[in-house]
Amino acid sequence: MKLNPLMQGIETHHDTKPFVLFIFGVTGDLTRRKLMPAMYNLYRKGFLTRFRIVGFARRPWSTEYFREQGMQMLEGQPGSADLKQQFIASLEYLQSTFEDPAGYERIESFCDGFRHRLFYLSTPPASYQEIITQLGKHGYGDNPRGFSRIIIEKPFGRDLASARELNQLLSRYFSEPQIFRIDHYLGKETVQNIMMLRFGNAIFEPLWNRHHIDHVQITVGESLGVGTRANYYDKSGALRDMVQNHLFQLLSLTAMEPPSSLTAEGVRGEKVKVLQALRPITYKDVNQYTVRARYTAGFSEGEAAPGYLDEDGVPPDSTTETYTALELYLDTWRWSGVPFFLRTGKRLARKVTEIAVHFKTPPLSLFTPDLPEQAQNVLVIRIQPGEGITLHMNAKIPGHENAMRPVNMDFSYGSSFGIPAPEAYERLILDAILGEATLYTRRDEIEAGWKFVTRILSGWEKMETPVVGYPAGSTGPELAKLMIGRHNRRWRKL
Ligand SMILES: NC(=O)c1ccc[n+]([C@@H]2O[C@H](COP(=O)([O-])OP(=O)(O)OC[C@H]3O[C@@H](n4cnc5c(N)ncnc54)[C@H](OP(=O)(O)O)[C@@H]3O)[C@@H](O)[C@H]2O)c1
Repeated sequence: MKLNPLMQGIETHHDTKPFVLFIFGVTGDLTRRKLMPAMYNLYRKGFLTRFRIVGFARRPWSTEYFREQGMQMLEGQPGSADLKQQFIASLEYLQSTFEDPAGYERIESFCDGFRHRLFYLSTPPASYQEIITQLGKHGYGDNPRGFSRIIIEKPFGRDLASARELNQLLSRYFSEPQIFRIDHYLGKETVQNIMMLRFGNAIFEPLWNRHHIDHVQITVGESLGVGTRANYYDKSGALRDMVQNHLFQLLSLTAMEPPSSLTAEGVRGEKVKVLQALRPITYKDVNQYTVRARYTAGFSEGEAAPGYLDEDGVPPDSTTETYTALELYLDTWRWSGVPFFLRTGKRLARKVTEIAVHFKTPPLSLFTPDLPEQAQNVLVIRIQPGEGITLHMNAKIPGHENAMRPVNMDFSYGSSFGIPAPEAYERLILDAILGEATLYTRRDEIEAGWKFVTRILSGWEKMETPVVGYPAGSTGPELAKLMIGRHNRRWRKL
């Protein structure tokens, strides 16, 4: 490959085959903030040889106008204006509604000179079925001259039945290796590092089981409220929006058995077994093992914040949860009896995503008569902010007394490597171009996650589980503290 002179000094690691990427919903927020910068950065780093990006959306944009917009989407990205112009020259616009077959008939003409195709569905989920059906009926699932792949954004379904239906529709026109279901958490470096940490170091794995681990806490906290997304969010809620996908991915990577190989099938095969081993929460148990809550008025980041029910676009009779906490058990040899506590919520005290593995205390308290709970060794994998890993240990306070205090051993991505991690979407899009599906969710994985979550949703309905309140800016509802407190454990500080 001849290197573009504007990219000198940047290595090409992969030679991708020439392809056309069709982005459905190209005028939307995700394309502007994530997809276009990710494609540009792949180009800038020399990963893309020959490509075309075709934007498919309803607005009456022209290719020229799309290119102007494209330049704006790259504001703040590294690289010269000339390099950006070179990238932008690959953009074309196909104006059509998703419902109009004429739009799909024009797809072929945009493929001129290219054999391989990717279709990225960055659209409202309500449009997925229409687009998949139209693509299929127009024969784009089959491409005898090259590859044809489809990338689907989250949310993938809203319960088990709708996820199954979507999978069935997809499988009518595309085979599983052609389908790439996005969970952008899997594109994050720190998330990928969970496997490296566990299986690339000999010291952790022997301890990674019920004999040594007391419990695990997985937290995805946001400080922001619902913002302008009430229309979407109120039909979803924390359990659907966060647990079924992101938190379950973190759970699977933390609890999975070592895969026999790092192939897509090897890794995903082990991950799905974790979800299949989750002990179901029946409706009778739902109020004991789950918490359902929403924020009330409070103070967030120093400012008064309204309660969820007073946010723009939220119906006054809404029962949607903005917070949920779960106590989960995996019925496996390795994890039998070890609780996994999961929590996620909006308008919490801090934005944080982390996995905290709490180890058992020593069998005998030699140094303090009653070893306090916080003296447990805790391994914290921080996904954001300040990506890194911290091990909380106990050390002697200098002096003549045998006094002990928890101290930290800290590894931070920023200071250890000194280079920024690529955006999740960069890695994920590159993998789809290369046909590498390890970081994408497989059909059975999605369905296993939905099966578990759908049972809780029906349990909440049947038991009329109340949506309790927590003040905006707080650490969450009292009920969640009581849930974990039953076992003399407590949530990590937010
Ligand atoms: N935004 C994020 O940060 C984010 C994060 C994670 C996942 N996602 C997922 O990514 C997907 C896209 O999100 P988004 O925020 O970009 O959505 P968005 O801003 O609402 O954009 C929707 C896009 O779809 C187009 N569209 C809608 N109905 C159409 C129709 N009938 N015919 C033709 N075009 C139509 C719109 O075109 P016009 O504007 O021309 O009407 C627009 O380009 C969603 O599934 C979302 O859940 C988004």
